[in-house]
Order: sequence, then structure tokens, then C-alpha cells
Amino acid sequence: MADAPDRRKFLKVATCALGGGAGLVIAAPVIKLVLDPAGKQTVSSPKEPLDVGDVAGFRKGQPPTRVEIIAPVLQDAWTTARDVVLGAAWIRRTGAHPKEIEARSAICPHLGCAVGWDDAKGNYLCPCHDSRFGADGAKLSGPSERGLDSLPVEIVDGRLKLTWVQYKLGRSTSEPV
Ligand code: FES
Repeated sequence: MADAPDRRKFLKVATCALGGGAGLVIAAPVIKLVLDPAGKQTVSSPKEPLDVGDVAGFRKGQPPTRVEIIAPVLQDAWTTARDVVLGAAWIRRTGAHPKEIEARSAICPHLGCAVGWDDAKGNYLCPCHDSRFGADGAKLSGPSERGLDSLPVEIVDGRLKLTWVQYKLGRSTSEPV
């Protein structure tokens, strides 16, 4: 009977310790979530050029190749998303030299539909309102006020790197969003 107060004291301390520990375990992710964006770079679009393939895979004389532009990691203040499809581009070799290669956004500059390649006519067609663009991206006909937007490319160790740029729609000149 003499040790009852000690046991009560011990149980009280043990309960407090267990409760405190459990509280910390629960609170830790919440604290991390609140503090996580602090000091981190906020990125809403990739600044780094994205790898779109072996440059040798794009050959002169072939129709343009459509490639999906996928960001491996896209991060804003609160979320991180992986393998985000940003859009698509048409890649075309313009000469025999590896550097003679160009990329056009597959987003129609009129109202943003996806532009396709019309093999029979050898030019690009937007199915929404029938804008047509030459193989070099120049506007041929239809309501679009400008040609297909050019995208920056570079070749690094035989790989084609493309920097994705989204442009404003319905303008006569290419203006990044
Ligand atoms: S969205 Fe392409 S022609 Fe209108």
C-alpha cells in the first residue's frame, strides 16, 4: 500500500510522456507541411530544357515528328507533381547537319487546339477552324493570325533538348504567357 502514490505518480508521468509523443508524431507532418514552402524555389513551369530524344532519330526528308513535352517534376508552393504533360511539339529537320532542326508548338495560335500534320498536303492543319500552316510553320490560311510558334532547341551530347514556352493565343505576334 505504501508504494501506491509512487505508482500513481509513475503512471501519471508515463501517460503524459506517451501523450506528448503521440502528439508530436501527429503534429510533425502538419508542421512540415506549413513550413515546407519556406525558402524553396517556386516553379510553375520547367526552366530547364527537356530531353525529347536522340537527335539522330529526326531525319531530313521525313515528315515532322510529334513529341509530347513532359516535365519530370513540376512544383508550386504546396504541391509537387511528376510527369506532367505540358503540351506537344512538332520537330522537323531542315537540313543534313545535326544542328539544322527546328521545333514548333503543336498548340494552334488561334484558340489553342492541337495542330496535326496533314501528310497528303505536306502541311499542318488545325481541325477546329481549318487554319493551315506550311511545313516551316508559316501561316497559309484560316483564322489564325500568325504561324506556328517556334520553340527553343539545342543539342547536348547528341540529345535534342527543348525549352517549353506557352504563347498567348489570338495575337498576330508570338508573346510568351
Ligand atoms: S483553334 Fe486552330 S484554327 Fe481555331
